[in-house]
Amino acid sequence: MNVAIIGAGQVGSALGRSWAKAGHQIIYGVRNPHGGKTQPPTFEGVSVQLIPDAVRAGDIVVLATPWKAVPEVVTFMGDLQGKVVIDCTNPLSLNAEGSLSLEIGSTTSGAEEIQRLMPAARVVKAFNTYGWENFENPSYPGHGDLRPVMFHCGDDEEAKEQVAALAQDLGFEPVDAGGLGMARSLEPLALLWIRLAVQGGRNPNFVWARLRR
Ligand SMILES: NC(=O)c1ccc[n+]([C@@H]2O[C@H](COP(=O)([O-])OP(=O)(O)OC[C@H]3O[C@@H](n4cnc5c(N)ncnc54)[C@H](OP(=O)(O)O)[C@@H]3O)[C@@H](O)[C@H]2O)c1
Repeated sequence: MNVAIIGAGQVGSALGRSWAKAGHQIIYGVRNPHGGKTQPPTFEGVSVQLIPDAVRAGDIVVLATPWKAVPEVVTFMGDLQGKVVIDCTNPLSLNAEGSLSLEIGSTTSGAEEIQRLMPAARVVKAFNTYGWENFENPSYPGHGDLRPVMFHCGDDEEAKEQVAALAQDLGFEPVDAGGLGMARSLEPLALLWIRLAVQGGRNPNFVWARLRR
């Protein structure tokens, strides 16, 4: 699959490297292909293009920019008719007490707002609930067949199937959480992960898994 990744920072780099290892073609879409602040990683087959060119070339588009940049980035993306867009962003901000919080939630979500900004696209929320380290190396030995879960949600079934396949390619067990409105639960889950990993002083190499009986 041709995967266009918009944003070549920590998340975009880790996902791109891992999907390339799984055999996908990666096209980074950046503001300045000849020297942005963040440098896209180099690996075999990777290409770096302006955002609208990358979107055009991608079978699937991954949005991996800061939340605050999204409205501007969307204006650069061009024609998104029918495109599957994976929203990895989290609407993070500092609250009045200065602690990390979500800028919106409960009555809407970042993913739903992004879908409003790009009505022709098929937005799927995914790859937002862990730090990038876990996309770079999604291996957790010592747990038998148990795989880390990748929650995703969206309103288009076929789009979710494509995203589930990309999650599987990285070694995750895809878990369909439901319609895009479920991002109201997945974005706070990211905040919980960040608080445990960063503010609790813990190692970021941990993930959610699902035990069944
Ligand atoms: N970090 C994590 O572990 C993690 C995990 C899950 C989800 N997330 C979410 O994923 C998103 C990306 O996080 P990150 O840590 O990868 O961020 P990052 O390392 O800061 O990278 C952000 C990327 O977005 C680009 N960008 C910024 N403003 C832009 C604009 N106006 N137009 C076009 N491109 C722009 C930057 O390009 P330039 O070089 O041109 O500035 C850079 O390539 C965030 O929404 C974050 O909340 C992060």
